[in-house]
Amino acid sequence: MKQTDDFERVPLGFFPTPLEPLPSLSASLGISLNIKRDDYTGFGGGGNKVRKLEYLMADACRQQVKVVITTGGHQSNHARMVAAAARKFGMKPVLVLRGHQPEVYQGNLLLDKLFGAELEFLDPDGYFTQIEGAMDAHAAAAQARGEKALIIPLGGATPLGALGYVRAIEEMDAQLKQRHQPPPEVIVAPTGSGGTLAGLYVGARRYWPDCKIVGISVSAKSEWFQTRIAAMAQDCANLLAWPQSWQPEDIWIEDQYVGSSYGVPSAGGIDAIYRVARRKVCYWIRCIPGRPCTA
Ligand SMILES: Cc1ncc(COP(=O)(O)O)c(C=O)c1O
Repeated sequence: MKQTDDFERVPLGFFPTPLEPLPSLSASLGISLNIKRDDYTGFGGGGNKVRKLEYLMADACRQQVKVVITTGGHQSNHARMVAAAARKFGMKPVLVLRGHQPEVYQGNLLLDKLFGAELEFLDPDGYFTQIEGAMDAHAAAAQARGEKALIIPLGGATPLGALGYVRAIEEMDAQLKQRHQPPPEVIVAPTGSGGTLAGLYVGARRYWPDCKIVGISVSAKSEWFQTRIAAMAQDCANLLAWPQSWQPEDIWIEDQYVGSSYGVPSAGGIDAIYRVARRKVCYWIRCIPGRPCTA
């Protein structure tokens, strides 16, 4: 069996990210809750895609790629991080985004511009039928210029990229052992392209076989994720020379929390954000020595 360290990886993020206890929110929910702060991965603005890109960009460097092409939503975090990673290694980023060309570039679109990414916008209605052709056309144009191109699929969701979240389980395992705490009973994570969850399933089966992994869909129906993640987890385990299989029904997905469309928070989602923010503030107030908790 291979280890995640047996695969080439370029260091991009700041690891380990904190595994932060949430005592106040835990008390209000009647559970013991920790949050893995992968918003602190740092590179290119941070987020969950950094762990996958450490493996995917190592592959791009090995292949001496000159143009990196990827896709995502209008304000895609993944696309923004691919643009940053491509520039770090002297490659040109090309981003094919779902949505219309904006009049004003804000948020991730502004960062995409700062990184000098070439942007193509696809009408949301035709996006899923056009996306592969659009990325292939950019790759063909690069090849015609004599520049080697690499297409990184939506969310960096490949078996190689998923190794990043096997590694995240290893990282959390070390953090918990250091605190003399047992593995979690449940991990809850959002799922959009499926790569994070596939890696978590592989890592958890190896290190925490009793831990359940629950994916909260940010977009599609549960059946789509179950088929895709079962296959990706299996391919990821095969990379590790670790013959394991998952059936779609082994993958636990909750798809009832998607708002009116991708990236649009539901009323319940906004309530949850307020609840967490206020409980976390309370936690920090409690942490100031000598100051009473007023909450
Ligand atoms: C808002 C949001 N949260 C979480 C995720 C989950 O990451 P993954 O792509 O690895 O499933 C995504 C991915 O698209 C996302 O857009």
